[in-house]
Amino acid sequence: MASIESILTETRVFPPADAFARQANVSGMDGYEALCRQAESDYEGFWANLARQHIDWKKPFTRTLDESGAPFYKWFDDGELNVSYNCLDRHLASKGDKTALIFEADDGSVTQVTYKELHARVCQFANGLKSLGVEQGDRVIVYMPMSIEAVVAMQACARIGAIHSVVFGGFSAKSLFERIEDARAKVIVTADESLRGGKAVPLKHAVDEALAMGDTSCVERVVVYRRSGGDIAWGGRDLWWHELAQTQAETCEPVWVSAEHPLFILYTSGSTGKPKGVQHSTGGYLLGAMLSMLWVFDAKPDSDVYWCTADVGWITGHTYVAYGPLSLGMTEVIFEGIPTFPHAGRFWETVAKHKVTTFYTAPTAIRSLIKLGSDLPAQYDLSSLRLLGTVGEPINPEAWMWYQQVIGGGRCPVVDTWWQTETGSHMIAPLPGAVPTKPGSCTLPLPGIMAAITDEHGGPVEKGHGGFLVIQRPFPSQLRTLWGDPDRFRKTYFPEELGGKTYLAGDSAHRDDDGYFWIMGRIDDVLNVSGHRLGTMEIESALVANPRVAEAAVVGRPHEIKGEAVVAYVVLKGTRPVGEEAKKIVAELRDWVGKEIGPIAKPDEIRFGDNLPKTRSGKIMRRLLRAIAKGEEITQDVSTLENPAILDQLKEAVK
Ligand code: WT7
Repeated sequence: MASIESILTETRVFPPADAFARQANVSGMDGYEALCRQAESDYEGFWANLARQHIDWKKPFTRTLDESGAPFYKWFDDGELNVSYNCLDRHLASKGDKTALIFEADDGSVTQVTYKELHARVCQFANGLKSLGVEQGDRVIVYMPMSIEAVVAMQACARIGAIHSVVFGGFSAKSLFERIEDARAKVIVTADESLRGGKAVPLKHAVDEALAMGDTSCVERVVVYRRSGGDIAWGGRDLWWHELAQTQAETCEPVWVSAEHPLFILYTSGSTGKPKGVQHSTGGYLLGAMLSMLWVFDAKPDSDVYWCTADVGWITGHTYVAYGPLSLGMTEVIFEGIPTFPHAGRFWETVAKHKVTTFYTAPTAIRSLIKLGSDLPAQYDLSSLRLLGTVGEPINPEAWMWYQQVIGGGRCPVVDTWWQTETGSHMIAPLPGAVPTKPGSCTLPLPGIMAAITDEHGGPVEKGHGGFLVIQRPFPSQLRTLWGDPDRFRKTYFPEELGGKTYLAGDSAHRDDDGYFWIMGRIDDVLNVSGHRLGTMEIESALVANPRVAEAAVVGRPHEIKGEAVVAYVVLKGTRPVGEEAKKIVAELRDWVGKEIGPIAKPDEIRFGDNLPKTRSGKIMRRLLRAIAKGEEITQDVSTLENPAILDQLKEAVK
């Protein structure tokens, strides 16, 4: 790994503006460094103090960290709490009438609920689940559109100690079936249809299909929220949400659980085909959510209007929609639709409409909106914004700059947050009133997060050289195990090669002279070209730095002489080129990459498409691109693909 060459040459630095730093929850590098020092000098004391300060415990914990079963770590495990209580009940006295959720529907209609109302709805639904026989530890699948009800369902599970497993509404019946089977779910909560971009997605129908795919006798009931009123089939296990909930009492005593009680499972893709059921805890997870809201988003519960665009089907939608904002008593926007419906200004229109202060989205969304034109944001009043965040993939410096200048008006800090489904909350991200930002870097670890870069034996790596991104001490919000597969948990995240106690993130990264982290991509996406290791994402970043290019994805293809060849799939800002025009642009882009990074990184082949194959969550499907690059027949599941037609374009080489 030590030979991975990192070639980003970004030199712009943006220190926090004085006005922002003055009001920040953590102000100045002094403030940040003081927290880091506390963590270093008394690691357990640091976390214990924060856990006592921010969480309401029913029974206080006396043990902070138990490492005896490493890597199956336990935090605060003799303490008892309830996450739903921490998100709702404790705010009722002081802010019961405050708006908790602003639901912005696909068609632009708005529904608001206060903390008091949300509490009542969560209690009713929790009582409803109890009436169906759901008990502490039972699994409940939530296969829902973005909605108030999705949050209610998750919070209701938390309230009674049931373990939710949210399945993204864009996943196919097959994926749903696999998750039902793996978790042995007792109840499924779904909707008739979801509405996105004016189109109905048949969720209930997919549930029916999934339940017919094998032994699903574990599922006793299917609760159906009526969203669209569309036609659905009805069977013996089915039950309407409103009929279940409306007769229930509006209070429900929380079930107090151990801090180590599983709050949820969330399936995520690994390097193999079978999704992994990432299992999170109650106490440590909640602490990570709260601290990162306060530190990274500089949350101001009394004045912020917060909007995270992620779907609750992903970890971002768990930590930064369903739990984090509510645990602090914030007002947040929940968005049902897509960024481009009914027009390409929808995001910015929604920011203006609700006077959003804090906006959190993915680089892929930013890049697609850049492509649609910088004049759009100018049509809306974005002056309410005070902080911008990104997550999910490295953001290329050009997109970062556009976000900072065109959306943030040069006024708002941009927080690039590195973390994973497995880490539960932000790990490496700037504290915006303290840490100067650099476009394309997620900057420095949060206080208490012992992130480092090592070689494959856990040894140190020099600055500027790439290596494995690891976290060297256990931290409260980390995954506890993989559901039903502790062996895979240990092997994947705590490999023997690294000593068995260091968390291996699965990313490669390097640090610059200031100690800033630059994520280079997944370990499995690192190419070896003629003995040189190159991060595919770096090549992509170089390509998208070209003014012609809107988006790019790079994969490796086995090559007899070089080991691997670089294949780039490119989306231009204009129309897709063909013939001589395409050849000319290929030559230009190869030279461009040669100049940006070095001749070694020049793509051996470049193909053009109107778009890239992405899952509905916006992740580029690299495995698919690798198959196309090799000219293989596509045999993998493309059910989560947003735009299957694009595959035919990308099969066409430029000749
Ligand atoms: C992987 C985790 C964390 C919520 C969304 C994705 C990549 C994530 C960044 C970032 C560079 C990033 C990593 C990571 N990633 N955030 N700010 N900069 N890369 O969660 O699906 O579990 O994916 O996403 O490769 O390992 P996830």
